[in-house]
This record gives sequence, structure tokens and C-alpha cells, in this order.
Amino acid sequence: MRYAHITGWGKYVPQRVVTNDELAQTVETSDGWIRDRTGIAERRIASPGETTASMAIAAAIAALDVAGLSGSQLDLIIVATTTPEHLFPSTACLVQDALGAARAGAFDLSAACSGFVYGLSLGADAIKAGSANSVLVIGSETLSRIVNWNDRNTCVLFGDGAGAVLLQGSNQPGGILSTLLRADGSGGELLIIPAGGSRQPVTPEAIAQNLHTIQMNGREVFRFASRVMDRATREIIYKAGWTTDQVDLFVPHQANLRIIEMAAKSLAVPLDKFYCNIARYGNTSAASIPIALTEAVEVGMLHPRDRVVMVGFGAGLTWAAAALEWGEPHPASRSQKTLSRLSYGVASVRSRARRLFRRVEDRLFGTLDPVLHPPPAREPPSKNGSEPAPRGDGKREPTLATDPKPESVAANRAPSVQSTLEDARG
Ligand code: ACO
Repeated sequence: MRYAHITGWGKYVPQRVVTNDELAQTVETSDGWIRDRTGIAERRIASPGETTASMAIAAAIAALDVAGLSGSQLDLIIVATTTPEHLFPSTACLVQDALGAARAGAFDLSAACSGFVYGLSLGADAIKAGSANSVLVIGSETLSRIVNWNDRNTCVLFGDGAGAVLLQGSNQPGGILSTLLRADGSGGELLIIPAGGSRQPVTPEAIAQNLHTIQMNGREVFRFASRVMDRATREIIYKAGWTTDQVDLFVPHQANLRIIEMAAKSLAVPLDKFYCNIARYGNTSAASIPIALTEAVEVGMLHPRDRVVMVGFGAGLTWAAAALEWGEPHPASRSQKTLSRLSYGVASVRSRARRLFRRVEDRLFGTLDPVLHPPPAREPPSKNGSEPAPRGDGKREPTLATDPKPESVAANRAPSVQSTLEDARG
């Protein structure tokens, strides 16, 4: 029987700290209100050069470092995010490229704040089913880019950051023992970004109404979150065959300290068994649980065979939980770490070489491809015989000869993706 163990963990948070007092200078709020109602004292906000991919890559490298694994040994990369780098390509593909994970599949997972636990569940199942042996599960968010900074109901809650874990297959019992994934789409409008998808593209009108930013019914989300935190925790503990007092550490999604306190009370568990860092980071959505888990390991709160429960909840509505038994540490040697670090440099060179090769290939053979470049259709001659006839609206029809080819548009945009990856590599 195969088991899926967490053998690596890592986090990345931006350096820039934004305190409640700073926010109180731009919206009508106060440090006292935010602390009392949410437990948040400050949050990290990404600098212009930091993005969901760059933070995901940094957290992923930290997780691989712990395990002494290089990207080329990965089978699967899952990035849980609500703030992907682009609609497509997926952020996971950018991570795959930066890590040189040439044998890995990669995809993004959209389950809002539950996304990391969803990813953990899928990654563990892939290992248990034998289709993968090394799976990187990342939660990464740049929520500061989708928040309306004039809306005090939401802007005080969120922060940026990324966390990652490496799952590896083993015959040693333990690791991810049970998971549960749930959803209730009837509550979708309670927490939503209405514009920016296929239903309502971003238009000047949508922007004027802030429909491209987070809209939230805080009270309803609070009620839902308090309910499912308790229910999902009980369910996953039952599924794992444990009792509540046998759990050594709870790592909940960090949305509101009051939600965690209520769960602790209703489960009759001391609050110090819940890892809480919301005061320092706010709600980092899919990144909150892996950041919290990484910190819990770093401060020595996790020991071999400790029983851990994670619970996430968020937009969708979605919620998810996982029960796991912490494994024995297998610290990577210095030489393994050095080799992994070197491999990211190789990955960078290979990525550039591939881009260059594609461009050269296009120059050499692109124009010979009859599908991509069919012979120009014969245009009806204009009056003077030198230009194609104008359309009814007076504009000229685009022609292959005068308009940019898709390839050249992509080539123009490539440096921004590339520079993101370079930022992450430092
Ligand atoms: N500063 C000062 N006053 C504020 C602020 C603020 N930042 N925000 C709201 N208020 C006001 C409200 O306008 C309201 O005023 P009113 O009574 O005059 O209308 C008053 O404070 C109380 O508002 P409530 O909504 O009742 O406040 P509540 O105690 O519920 O706290 C909060 C609001 C913190 C948003 C809470 O509802 C909450 O945490 N909800 C869950 C949010 C959450 O977890 N979202 C993320 C889910 S995960 C994901 O997928 C992203």
C-alpha cells in the first residue's frame, strides 16, 4: 500500500508590511476595529515585481530544498489560487518551467480558500493510485490586486503570500490519511468577483462599478465559515478514526480569529492547539494553510507521528479538510541542496533556449506551413488598383502582410513572464 507523506514545506511572503493604522489613513476604519473583529494586525502586500507565480516559485523552491529534491524529479504540480498570473497559461505551468520540472504535469486549481486542501487531496490520491510519486502542492495569492482598496468591508481582511508542500510516496504508514471535499454553489454570490470571466468581461462600465474586485457578504460568509469549520473538523476526525483530543495540531484557514475561536470552543479544544498567524498576514486565501503549516514546523510545533487536521473554507462556497500523521524528518544534505539550486539555473537556460528555438524555427519554417500561412486571398482591386478595397465601415480588412502574426504578439509579451520568473530566482 502507498502512503503520501509531506516531506518538504516552504513559504514566501512579501517584505512590505501594511499595518491597520496605514489602512486607516485611506478608509474609515481603525486598528481597534480590525483587531477586535478579525484578529488582524498587519498583512503583507506584494511589490509591483512580485506576482502569484514568483511567490509560488519561491515557496516551491523552499519546499524542494527541505526534501533535497530537484524540479526534474516532480511528477505533478498543482497551484491552488484565485489570483492566477493569467487566465491562461496556468500559473502552475510557469512554476513548472522555472523549476525545470520536465516530467511533470501542471495545472491550477480554483477552489478559493479551500484550494490548498483540495490540491493536497488530489495530490495524495495521485500518489496512492500510483500515477505520481512526487507532487508539489502550492497555494499562492496576490489578493492585493483584486481588492477594492476603497471598500473597508474587504480591504482590511486580505494579504499576499504563498506556501507549498511536497508530497512523496512511501510504503511507510502515515501521511495524508483522509480528506473531504465539499461545495455548495448556491452560495456563490456571497463571495464573488463578478467581472473578468466569460459571463461579464471587464469593461469600463464594470470597472466603474468595481465589479472586477472582491464583493463579499461578510456576515453570511462568517456564518457559513463558523458552521463548516466545526462540521468539517468533526467529520474528518471521525473519518480518520480519531477522537478530537487525539489531534495534536489544528491548522485552519486564517480568515478571522473569531471563526477559529468559535470552532475551538464548540469542539472543546484549547485554542493553543490551533495554529494562528492571522495577526501577521491577514487572509491569504489558498496560501494561508501551507504558510501556517510551514511556520508550525519551523517553530517546532510538529513532531513525528503527530496528528494534524487542516480545514479550509471559502468562495464557491467550498470547504475541505484533511487528517494527516506527520512523518519522520529526512533532512536534505548540503550537496543535495546545492544540486537543486544549480538545477534552477539550468532550467532558466533551458527555458530561454526553448523560446529562442521556437522563434528560429518559426523564422525558418513558419512561412512554409500551408495551414498557418495560406497563400493570400485575392483582394478585389481598389479604384487606384494599389490597395485592397475598404470595408463598408471605411476600415481596411486586416491582411497577413500588414498585421502582426499571433507569434510576434506572443513574443512581445514573453519578457514579462520571463522577468517574473527571474524575479523569483533572485
Ligand atoms: N472598519 C470599521 N467598520 C467597519 C469595517 C471596517 N473595516 N468593515 C465593516 N464595518 C462596519 C460595517 O459597515 C457595519 O456598520 P453598520 O452596522 O453601520 O452597517 C459594522 O462595521 C458591522 O459590520 P458587520 O458586517 O456586522 O461586522 P462583522 O462583525 O460581521 O465583521 C467581517 C465583518 C470581519 C467582514 C466578518 O463578517 C467576517 O470576517 N466575515 C467572514 C469574511 C471571510 O472570512 N471572508 C473570506 C472567506 S475565504 C475566501 O474564500 C476569500
